[in-house]
Amino acid sequence: MHKHLISLIALLLMLPSLCGAQGTTPYTINHGPYLQGLTYDGVIVCFTTSDRGFSGVEIREKGSSEVRLCRTSKDGLFEADNTLNSIAIEGLKPATEYEYRIISKQMLSFEPYKVVFGEEIESEWYDFRTFDPKADEVTFVVANDIHDDAKKCADLLDLMPMDEAEMVFYNGDIMSHYSREGQPFTSFIDVSVEKFARHKPFAVVRGNHETRGHLAREYGNYIHNTREGRYYGVYYFGSTAVVMLDCGEDKDDEHPVYAGLVDFDRYREEQAAWLKEVVRSKEFRRAERRIVIVHIPPTVERMAQVEQNAKRVPDLMTWRGNAHLGELLLPILNKADIDVMLSAHLHSHVVFPPQEGVVEFPIIANDNVSAMLVRSSKEGVYVKIVNREGKTTLEETY
Ligand SMILES: [Fe+2]
Repeated sequence: MHKHLISLIALLLMLPSLCGAQGTTPYTINHGPYLQGLTYDGVIVCFTTSDRGFSGVEIREKGSSEVRLCRTSKDGLFEADNTLNSIAIEGLKPATEYEYRIISKQMLSFEPYKVVFGEEIESEWYDFRTFDPKADEVTFVVANDIHDDAKKCADLLDLMPMDEAEMVFYNGDIMSHYSREGQPFTSFIDVSVEKFARHKPFAVVRGNHETRGHLAREYGNYIHNTREGRYYGVYYFGSTAVVMLDCGEDKDDEHPVYAGLVDFDRYREEQAAWLKEVVRSKEFRRAERRIVIVHIPPTVERMAQVEQNAKRVPDLMTWRGNAHLGELLLPILNKADIDVMLSAHLHSHVVFPPQEGVVEFPIIANDNVSAMLVRSSKEGVYVKIVNREGKTTLEETY
């Protein structure tokens, strides 16, 4: 009897772990879905599952019963036994409403000749619309320098008419450094999902801070601004082109804080060469309005000649990021008929006015407590900046 009692107690003690193995801890989609890299004909759906699994995205045109299953396939293998997913959907029609849902099977064990699946789950259907190549108007939101403050991110989004916006551009320093597993979710992705990102994409124009921390090299697993997998790129919304540039660090590559681990001078030069090609391209030249988004405002010495810049610009010129971007980008962009540049980084509201032959467009540096609403239409590029108190601090059409 005594022996039986001991066996029973042992069995009861083992029960929780046995239950776990059998999947009584529910298998869920625990982050996302959020949309990335939306274009006229494709999108990337991102999410994580609570345990290793085999996932896909089902897509259908709104109102249609014809469903297509998309998975990530590489070298003959479907992606499986993973938790973080970014599933690209290609071949969509422009300016068309779609619905998608996630399907996923937990993978309990994955042996060479025996795979054991666990729970099967599916999300609800979410809708989105591909961008319109014929659009003559686009509205988007810009927020920056959130520095891991998800509450601030939520407050800024709440200030904006998100139903009018096609997407959100996060213009850098959304995180102060990337040092904690899951930090992109807690800092801004989860709140973006809650507010808009299941239906509308966001892009992250990196700041100087997102390149810091021992996990910074993994950030690209969460952020997919372009199909090419680069942070810099161009979004086209019909007659409007939006160029995103990846500023790199603020200090010299040789600065001791980077411990010899960064290569931003070369990276900025790579982008300048790419930008030269972009501004020459047919699609860019055909655009009627052109906006540039970059976290660090580029500066050159001659900008100090303008009275309102006189104090600020000499100081900015001591920073490698500002000066190198000024030297590389302004000669290219000055010839590219840019309407406005949207910038950040300074944590204060600054507008650098256009100067003939120096900087041919205004550079607006948004502060760290305001969001920008941008509407590009036949009337020009309308920019409205609203601070966290709901006060409008800038309202101009460029
Ligand atoms: Fe910054």
